[in-house]
Amino acid sequence: IAAGIRRDVKPWLNLVDDLSNLTRDAEISVPQICVMGDQSSGKSSVLEALAGVPFPRGSGLVTRCPIRLSMKRSATGSRWSAVAHASNEPSKSHSASTPGQLTKLLERLTDGLTSTSSNFSTETINVRLSSPDVPDLTVVDLPGIIRTSTAGQDPAVIAQVNNLIESFLEQARTIILCVIPANQDIATVDILERAQKVDPRGERTIGVLTKPDLIGPGNEDEVLAVLHNVRKPLQLGYVMVKNRSQAQLKAGLTGTEAREAEEAFFRQHSHFKGCDPKLFGVANLTTRLTQLLVTRIQHELVPMKADVETALASVRTELKGLSSYGNASTPGDRQKLLVTVTQEYVRHLNSVVQGEYRDRV
Ligand code: GDP
Ligand code: NA
Ligand code: MG
Repeated sequence: IAAGIRRDVKPWLNLVDDLSNLTRDAEISVPQICVMGDQSSGKSSVLEALAGVPFPRGSGLVTRCPIRLSMKRSATGSRWSAVAHASNEPSKSHSASTPGQLTKLLERLTDGLTSTSSNFSTETINVRLSSPDVPDLTVVDLPGIIRTSTAGQDPAVIAQVNNLIESFLEQARTIILCVIPANQDIATVDILERAQKVDPRGERTIGVLTKPDLIGPGNEDEVLAVLHNVRKPLQLGYVMVKNRSQAQLKAGLTGTEAREAEEAFFRQHSHFKGCDPKLFGVANLTTRLTQLLVTRIQHELVPMKADVETALASVRTELKGLSSYGNASTPGDRQKLLVTVTQEYVRHLNSVVQGEYRDRV
């Protein structure tokens, strides 16, 4: 059954991947899961656990532009591979054949998009990852929220990052994955406030509690009240995960060992062992996210089709205006190309809407 589900979600995820590769994010918004939270809350660790890929991370500012990671599970025994491109150079694709190469590639592409280490870019790096060990899932990694209290940060940089995060939060099709350290007072978690502003009914916000091994003694019940959706309730609820600590990373704990350690940690934990096991662990988080994303794509299919048709109509009108002036130069060619691409896309969407995939999920 599990294999059947895995096979069936692919067409839906492919559809959205194609859309986001054909358009820039602002043009047509697509259902996507965006990882958000304070710096050092554990965003990259969560992504790493989902993908089994070490992500560029550290104590400073590491994620400096949106990284869309689309993962496809391939047949058992097939090789790990990844291709990436920056959204400002869609035809220039780069490949990596090991996770280490991908990490270096992402650093190189990020450097190409940004000029100094404090600089951020709104251009997206799109990564397609194929491996027998990844889930069928697409997630977007974003730079962490910089608190104004962070010493020595340029206010212009703070504004730039906040605007970037805001632009993803505002898109009604974004699923907001709030990463929240369980060892921190939930009342002070900025991302939950910001998510609530754009999603007051909590319909597209899911919480992930990290660092359960660092919860102060006596605070466990308070954390459980959040996990059980009593405190700061979200319609989509919460999942708690335990990632590798810096020390475990240094000691060379592998991803598989980390998952085993996570499972044992929750199974043996004095406060967590009696709870619903579905609330814990990366495996459960992965399942929840895939279901959430696919449901959202199915739900948004008809409205997305309408958006694409509106975009197509406006490009056609523009093209008409251009050709009536007899302008066959570069701008006209660009528009024609856009029409072709958009038409292709509408056809693609139509085939989905008209039931090619409808009965398969
Ligand atoms: P990001 O800035 O939000 O991407 O956070 P990172 O994923 O880079 O994590 C920040 C630090 O917290 C790193 O040193 C991680 O090893 C550590 N960390 C993340 N998750 C956990 C966890 O569940 N337990 C512990 N002990 N450390 C964690
Ligand atoms: Na895009
Ligand atoms: Mg990070």
